[in-house]
Amino acid sequence: MAQKAGGAVLADGTLELFSKLVEERSARGIASALRHMITAGEIHPGDKLPTVRDLSASLGVSPATVAQAWQALAQAGMLITRGRAGTFVAHFNDKDQPPRFLGLGGPLINSGIDLSRGTPDPLLLPSISQAMERVTANRDIWTSSYFDEPVIPELDQLLRQSWPFRPDSLTVVDGALDGLSRIIAVLVSFGDRVIVESPGFPPLLDILERVGAEIIPIGLDEQGPLVSELADALVRDPVAAFLQPRAHNPTGTSMSQLRASEIAALLGRSTCWIIEDDHSGDISTAPDVSIGQYRPDKTVHIRSFSKSHGPDLRLAAIGGASAVIEPLIRDRMLGPGWSSRLLQHILVELLTSDDSVSAVEHARDQYSLRSTHIREALLDSGLDPSPGDGINLFIPVEDEQRVLINLAAEGIRVAPGRPFFIGKVQSPGIRVTISALESNPDKISKLARTIAQAVDRSEQTQGIR
Ligand SMILES: Cc1ncc(COP(=O)(O)O)c(C=O)c1O
Repeated sequence: MAQKAGGAVLADGTLELFSKLVEERSARGIASALRHMITAGEIHPGDKLPTVRDLSASLGVSPATVAQAWQALAQAGMLITRGRAGTFVAHFNDKDQPPRFLGLGGPLINSGIDLSRGTPDPLLLPSISQAMERVTANRDIWTSSYFDEPVIPELDQLLRQSWPFRPDSLTVVDGALDGLSRIIAVLVSFGDRVIVESPGFPPLLDILERVGAEIIPIGLDEQGPLVSELADALVRDPVAAFLQPRAHNPTGTSMSQLRASEIAALLGRSTCWIIEDDHSGDISTAPDVSIGQYRPDKTVHIRSFSKSHGPDLRLAAIGGASAVIEPLIRDRMLGPGWSSRLLQHILVELLTSDDSVSAVEHARDQYSLRSTHIREALLDSGLDPSPGDGINLFIPVEDEQRVLINLAAEGIRVAPGRPFFIGKVQSPGIRVTISALESNPDKISKLARTIAQAVDRSEQTQGIR
């Protein structure tokens, strides 16, 4: 490591120190030691690392093991590879994160139509003011002690009755993303392997990269995650697989019962946890399929109420294996402790009163109609949109950047496909949130034609069509 290259210097003796720090001569051990040196300031941004060959020789491990450690650190943004010039400590800056989540955002557009947001139509949410009035008029809603159960009994009962399998443990957190990040904190350590769907939910990919997990992407078809790819990934001893059972974001795919049973059969004696993110909950038209119906011992199922009852309730339930959920509940006691019981009471009201139950059913029907209309119109215009349960659908395009620009010129904003992929973008495309459409077939057809023209123009510029 005393080699100097391009002005980047590693001090003499660093390799020796590094070898001492590597307690476990595995990819994970090597990655942890290097991460320790970076965070402790032993080596600095811009420093050049030894070659994989030199380091593997000096540590007595295979080059593949070192390469795997480098890859995990590169994925976490701590190293950067500059081709033949070598591998360097990156100018790692927490403020630069999370890259994918930010890639989806941007200021709201004032005029035109914004189909990029992934949020429900506010006009289709059940009325919260009525629920609030009823709750505050009728119930004793105040927490009696910091040691009260985190979930109020009425909500606990409703959730258990409607859960797709009998959960060992159940709790409530501040939205599905909070649930995902707390489950990751319990299960995933630096260098662990995890399986995710690709395309998948960008903030999930951000969290996993941030903790330094090695991400194994698997593809999907119209029935859900591909069994053959999942089988190959399971051989690599992952700690968890993160799946979206319904209204997959961005494709709108829902997992079939058959696929859930095939996945459950694959699990066998694997130690891999299945984490299901049912982020669309009651606005999905598909049944509440879960691998927990077959393997409740290995499954943790998250159900969000953001899309059905409002993102500002910030409530999601997590039910399943207690080995994951109980530590999560304990860890949370040292933070927020519980999710607002006031909001939990409101959710109970929303889940039980006739008017809000019908409002959610109405929303589900409207989303389904909007989705069907735009899908049909896009198909008529020569595009090939994904199935589209829930509020999103994905349209494959050759050059998403050009399409985004062409659409912006028409006052239409959609989300880029890139942030949904890990590594190579297998299928470039755009995500269209259909909740922002008006339920007017003529307007929807017109919009679909505009989208198709924008795609067409971008491909003509590329000389594709
Ligand atoms: C797949 C997926 N998971 C989680 C979330 C976040 O949901 P919540 O609002 O419950 O945190 C979303 C939001 O769109 C999502 O698409």
